[in-house]
Amino acid sequence: MRILVLGGTRFFGLQLVHRLVEEGHQVTVLTRGRTSAPLPPSVERLVADRQQAAALREAVGARTWDVVIDNIGFTAEDSRLAVEVFAGRAGRFFFTSTAAVYSCLEGAVNPYREDDTERLPERARARENPQLAYGFGKLEAERVLQRAYRERGFPITILRLPIVIGPRDHTLRAYSYWVRLKDRAPLILPDGGRVDWRFIYSGDAVRAFLRLLEEERSIGQVYNFAQEEIVSVREFVKLSAEILGTEVETVDIPLQWLRAQRIEPVFSPYSIPRSWIVDISKAQRELGWRSTPWREWMRASIEWFEREYHGPPPENYFHRAEELQLIQRWRQMTAT
Ligand SMILES: NC(=O)c1ccc[n+]([C@@H]2O[C@H](COP(=O)([O-])OP(=O)(O)OC[C@H]3O[C@@H](n4cnc5c(N)ncnc54)[C@H](OP(=O)(O)O)[C@@H]3O)[C@@H](O)[C@H]2O)c1
Repeated sequence: MRILVLGGTRFFGLQLVHRLVEEGHQVTVLTRGRTSAPLPPSVERLVADRQQAAALREAVGARTWDVVIDNIGFTAEDSRLAVEVFAGRAGRFFFTSTAAVYSCLEGAVNPYREDDTERLPERARARENPQLAYGFGKLEAERVLQRAYRERGFPITILRLPIVIGPRDHTLRAYSYWVRLKDRAPLILPDGGRVDWRFIYSGDAVRAFLRLLEEERSIGQVYNFAQEEIVSVREFVKLSAEILGTEVETVDIPLQWLRAQRIEPVFSPYSIPRSWIVDISKAQRELGWRSTPWREWMRASIEWFEREYHGPPPENYFHRAEELQLIQRWRQMTAT
């Protein structure tokens, strides 16, 4: 198939491009051309800022693709422009969305289901909350695409992904734990790391796209994709330590106490106030979705970072000394 990827030079987007080429597809990548990436030689490059209408139109010209994958759409405006430019030029249009859309809904409960966004109202004043801006942007981007599907048959499929972990993860969220485990000093677990997650391995995110390519019936559909296992932050840390071969000393501190001290738990990026579990039964039922076993992909991801990552530590690690002081303070306070 002829496939255009908007993005595709950073994290799982890059992995996706490699897999598509391996599968024999003819791949074109559209980016601003700022980020250098080890793309396969057969990949064609188009250069444009996808948010600049004239530049995007010019780069795309009169060309057509069997599938366009929008891996870098974030707002309603991004989607409006995509519909305008790709209507009649894309046999199918995949949109990479996020499980963060569920945080914008009033009354959403775990496990989050695809139709929650149809059934539930938006949270009051959520639009003004900067922490929800990303989720809202994606939700609105999805809604523009869904309207285009209903009104003019624009052939969308929406993938909602939770936190993606794997090689090249530029967010360094998982690495925030690994770098701490490696320095062997204690690690704070807000609320004891009891929050549960379903993550997704980057290799599995890529497999989700490949699976959807085979499935014409997924046009007009939204799918959650994630790992099957539900794991707590504590389990994540424990398994990480086991793979890294380190002893882990965790210090449980209530999130509420941290917040009362005006301390954001940036040192534990997966510690959020409540569990975040997406329902994957639709993908299991309709697409036969199976995820790579958790232990397996955690090992592959950690080993990649051990071997290949030579960049700086995450920003949250620059304040490690203060974190250790905080541990001391907490211990003094709670010593009996
Ligand atoms: N990471 C997660 O945990 C997670 C979770 C859920 C969903 N997602 C979604 O995953 C997607 C990102 O995946 P990825 O990190 O693998 O990205 P990617 O597909 O590799 O794309 C990133 C590339 O897009 C290019 N780009 C950025 N802005 C652009 C613009 N305005 N116009 C043209 N090109 C642009 C950049 O290259 P240039 O600098 O050269 O332009 C960048 O290297 C996002 O949609 C995100 O919401 C991520």
